[in-house]
Amino acid sequence: MDKLDKIEEMAALMSETERQYAYMQEARRLVEEESARLGRPLTANITTFGCQMNARDSEKLSGILREAGYVETESEDADFVIYNTCTVRENANQRVYGRLGVLHGYKKKNPHMKIALCGCMMQEPTVVEKLKKSYRFVDLIFGTHNIFKFAELLVRTLTSDRMIIDIWKDTDQIVEDLPTERKYPFKSGVNIMFGCNNFCSYCIVPYVRGRERSREPRDIIREIEALVRDGVREVMLLGQNVNSYGKTLEQPVSFAQLLKEVEQIDGLERIRFMTSHPKDLSDELIEVMAQSKKICRHLHLPLQSGSSRILKVMNRRYTKEQYVELAQKIRRAMPDIALSTDIIVGFPGETEEDFLETLDVVKTVRYDSAFTFIYSKRTGTPAAVMENQVPDEVVKDRFDRLLSCVQDISREMAERFTGSVQEALVEEPNEQLGGYVTGRLGNNHVVHFPGGTELIGQIVKVRLDECKGFYYMGSLMN
Ligand code: 5AD
Ligand code: SF4
Repeated sequence: MDKLDKIEEMAALMSETERQYAYMQEARRLVEEESARLGRPLTANITTFGCQMNARDSEKLSGILREAGYVETESEDADFVIYNTCTVRENANQRVYGRLGVLHGYKKKNPHMKIALCGCMMQEPTVVEKLKKSYRFVDLIFGTHNIFKFAELLVRTLTSDRMIIDIWKDTDQIVEDLPTERKYPFKSGVNIMFGCNNFCSYCIVPYVRGRERSREPRDIIREIEALVRDGVREVMLLGQNVNSYGKTLEQPVSFAQLLKEVEQIDGLERIRFMTSHPKDLSDELIEVMAQSKKICRHLHLPLQSGSSRILKVMNRRYTKEQYVELAQKIRRAMPDIALSTDIIVGFPGETEEDFLETLDVVKTVRYDSAFTFIYSKRTGTPAAVMENQVPDEVVKDRFDRLLSCVQDISREMAERFTGSVQEALVEEPNEQLGGYVTGRLGNNHVVHFPGGTELIGQIVKVRLDECKGFYYMGSLMN
């Protein structure tokens, strides 16, 4: 019986978490062996594409690579390279193919190099087919549902010369307590739910991230308590649609109730969350936010389009009027809140009138910041087969007009805080200005001010002296 069979026999008797730890040990043995043979440590590199969910997943991958004995490096000329991919828009996919070519060059020089791909893009069958056909040098491909198995897949990759592909269509499994390696010691993302059930007609996420499932509140609280003991002051609760958190649990809990519990955690200072769907945002949530001392005054509320007609075809399940009313209700309850949004231009059938409705919402709500996207056709979504796709030059023109409008308004909105004193969590030294550090305000704006690196990880009071449009220059208050 070889070593792998033995682990498998033992593993059958263990919990999933224990199994994965057993594989981490085996990976460590393999990495040590190879490292002794080469007379140097083995290096690993992770590149993350896409959203905060993916960033958090990469921290999990990084935790496992660290347990396996890899030393993380900035360079992609490493012994183990992994791309955690995104597929929300087509250009994200193109970037991956482009960069794989470069990795192939490194692999020719270092034949022991292992190349792994995971994340949302791998959940698309056409992508995997293309990789199998034209990118044979890739060693491991896995998806979003079985990322908890990474230690096991790592061992298989290290002991095989064949391309390993393990993609699941869906899962209801949530595996707790695997290691993570946080990018920042003082802040962390925390998954509260996975997947999405909304099926907006343009969006590929429900197909690549599967059905919605929430973690148990006690597991979330336990994780945050442990993070706080480890120095974390700010958490970002993550889900594709946090407003529908807890609905499918055996004992249903609302997102607002979860927030109230998180608020009670001693030592935790700031709470953020991402992403809200306007259709599910409750009055209870607005109330909990307004009363909270810890929930940051920032809400990301994707609009997507300002035209009720287009919103209907997008399957967003709110109208222009309902959205505007909601945004105004939020601003009335919390006048200092920063509102941000996502907007798509060029959805199939979008007319100039529809686009003007979007501009109208932007001018009415006055976003503190807005992410604007050109509609990207995602195969498999209902919108991809809709007729009357909008010509490129029309989309480009609308995109430029929208961008200039949101930028003007963001600048004006940022001005309203100039001269005020705000709390900032100091995140990093300023790369351009020696002797300066960069902090993040509760409303998600960034401020640069003179200060030493000993401030990193602390929450300090900063006066916002000058607004530079998308950031402030400030000074530390004592
Ligand atoms: N084309 C363009 N933008 C998209 N988004 C999601 N799907 C698409 C698509 N097919 C945008 C939405 C979403 C954000 C994460 O990405 O605005 O809120
Ligand atoms: Fe995140 Fe969606 Fe991109 Fe996946 S497809 S990384 S969930 S934005």
